[in-house]
Amino acid sequence: MTFAETVAPSLSGHVLVAAPTGGGKSYLVGALIEQLDHAKKPYVILDTKSQNHIGLWVGKNRLKKLHLFRCFPDTDLTIDDYKKMLRENPRLLCIPTTDTEIDHLIEEYKKILKAVQNLKLPRHVIVEETHHYCRSPQKAIPEIEWIVREGRGYKIWLWSITQRIQSFPKDVWANGMWTYIMHMRIRHDVDYFDDALPDGEDFRIVNEELKLHDVLQLDQISGKYQIIKAAEVTRKTQHFG
Ligand SMILES: Nc1ncnc2c1ncn2[C@@H]1O[C@H](COP(=O)(O)OP(=O)(O)OP(=O)(O)O)[C@@H](O)[C@H]1O
Ligand SMILES: [Mg+2]
Repeated sequence: MTFAETVAPSLSGHVLVAAPTGGGKSYLVGALIEQLDHAKKPYVILDTKSQNHIGLWVGKNRLKKLHLFRCFPDTDLTIDDYKKMLRENPRLLCIPTTDTEIDHLIEEYKKILKAVQNLKLPRHVIVEETHHYCRSPQKAIPEIEWIVREGRGYKIWLWSITQRIQSFPKDVWANGMWTYIMHMRIRHDVDYFDDALPDGEDFRIVNEELKLHDVLQLDQISGKYQIIKAAEVTRKTQHFG
C-alpha cells in the first residue's frame, strides 16, 4: 500500500496527531495536507510557528492554490472578516509573524474557529499545539468542542496536533476517529494510549517497536492499527520545522 492509500480513510474524520517534540508531527501533517490538497478538500491550517508549515507555500513543489495569512501583533479582524477570508480561500495557511505573541495569536485563531462554525461549510481545521485551546486537561474551548460534536454533519473535521498529550482532553480524543502517534518517551504518555488498543494488545510493547519518526495509525472505531515506517511518510513539499 502506498502512503496515500494508507492514509486515505483518515481524510474523513477527526484526527489526533501526538508525539514528543521532534517526533515528526508537523512533517507527517504536511504529508497528510498534501493528500487533502490533491483530493481538493478545503482546509485551514492554524499554525503557531512562523516557519513550521511554510514549506507547503514556498518552493518548487509548493501547493499552488494555498493562500497565506500572516497574523501580526496588531491584527484584529472580526469574525465576519474571517468568514470572508475562509469563503474566498478554501486552502488557507495561517501563521504568526516572529513578534506576534502567542496569546494574541490564539485570540485571533479562536475567531477563525468561530467563523468556521458559523459558515458551516466543509473544512479540515488543522490546529497546531492544541493545548493552547484547552482550558484544562479536562476541558477544550467551546469552539473546539463544537467541531468535535457537530462537525461531522457539515464535513468539518478537526486535526489536533499536540506534544502535550497529558493536557489533551480525553473526551475530545474519545470523539476522534483516527490517531497518529510516534514513539512516546514518557511513561504517563504511554499509559494515556494504553486503553485505546484492542484487548490483548499492549501499547508499551508497540511503543518500543516504533523507531524514530515511525507512525502508529490507529482507527479508533475498529480498534485496528498499523505502523507506517518513517521512510514511507512521503511528501513533495519541503519541511522547515
Ligand atoms: N518521516 C520522516 N522522515 C524523515 N525525516 C523526518 C520524518 N519525520 C520527521 N522528520 C524530521 O524530523 C525533524 C522533526 O520533525 P517535525 O518538525 O515534524 O517534529 P514535530 O513533532 O512537529 O516537533 P515539534 O513538537 O517541535 O513541533 C524535522 O527535521 C523533520 O524533517
Ligand atoms: Mg511541529
